[in-house]
Amino acid sequence: MAITRLAWLLILLSTHCYVNVLAVILKSNEQAPWTNEFESIELSCLIESITTNSPRIEWKKIQNGEPSYVYFDRKVSGDLENRARIREPATLVITNATRSDTADYRCEVTAPNDIKSFDEILISLVVRVKPVMPKCSVPKSVPFGKSAELRCVEDEGFPKSQYQWFRNKEEIPDDPKTSPKFFNSTYTLNSETGTLRFSAVRKEDGAQYYCRAKNDAGHAECGPQTMEVYDINIAGIILGVLVVVVVLLCITVGICCAYKRGYFASQKQTGNNYKVPAKGDGVDYVRTEDEGDFRHKSSFVI
Ligand SMILES: *[C@@H]1O[C@H](CO)[C@@H](O)[C@H](O)[C@H]1NC(C)=O
Ligand SMILES: *[C@@H]1O[C@H](CO)[C@@H](O)[C@H](O)[C@H]1NC(C)=O
Repeated sequence: MAITRLAWLLILLSTHCYVNVLAVILKSNEQAPWTNEFESIELSCLIESITTNSPRIEWKKIQNGEPSYVYFDRKVSGDLENRARIREPATLVITNATRSDTADYRCEVTAPNDIKSFDEILISLVVRVKPVMPKCSVPKSVPFGKSAELRCVEDEGFPKSQYQWFRNKEEIPDDPKTSPKFFNSTYTLNSETGTLRFSAVRKEDGAQYYCRAKNDAGHAECGPQTMEVYDINIAGIILGVLVVVVVLLCITVGICCAYKRGYFASQKQTGNNYKVPAKGDGVDYVRTEDEGDFRHKSSFVI
């Protein structure tokens, strides 16, 4: 008896029939789906083969290696609670995806009446997030021939934003040598970090600049800002220095003269003050002063 049973089993095992009839087998239309934030997405879990009537269906979310229940005991739980439902047979439909839904999800189906009674399928969901307006920094004015760095940063976008720069509304190519307009410009542009760096600015680089952060979900731009390029010519500097020196000399000479004159004038004045009353009624003056002094002294004595 046992031998014939074993033989039957072997026969069953060797046929596809066994696999198809007595096993639960899952498949998915899309194992790496993506959606934009605040849109809906379905994590497809289809049952290709099953004999059990009402199998147990579970969904788990795996984030940073930690599994947590999303669907268990016929109920959606966790942070998806009011945003997801199950569509027959086992597909999980998220109606309003958020950025924190980016994770791996595992659909698990247990069918006790099947010989192969368990199967699971892993779905990796990516929720794309549109970039917000990037923060841009453009130097206001740069001397001709000096270096300048323009920066652009955006942190919300997922996948991570890439950057483009525009000069007077025209996109700046990654490599200046590819465009006759930018051919002589000395910049390097890093579209990963958003940095546009000139090693030596030219007159033509003085312009309005803005940056765009973009990813698969969309793009956002900062407002245009002006970078001015000003000349520093040597002749001008020498002339300027000469003018300053001459002005300083004039001021010094002026102060000297004024000081000398002022010094003598004040000496004469004090001399006159002494001499004039001394000539006329200097004695009286001195006397009155003496008298006052005496009076004061006397009154003090009294
Ligand atoms: C989706 O969720 C966000 C907040 O998480 C909410 O502001 C928005 O109104 C929701 N959209 C829909 C269509 O429910
Ligand atoms: C670039 O420089 C060369 C030589 O200095 C000049 O002949 C050419 O016109 C310049 N091109 C542009 C686009 O300014």
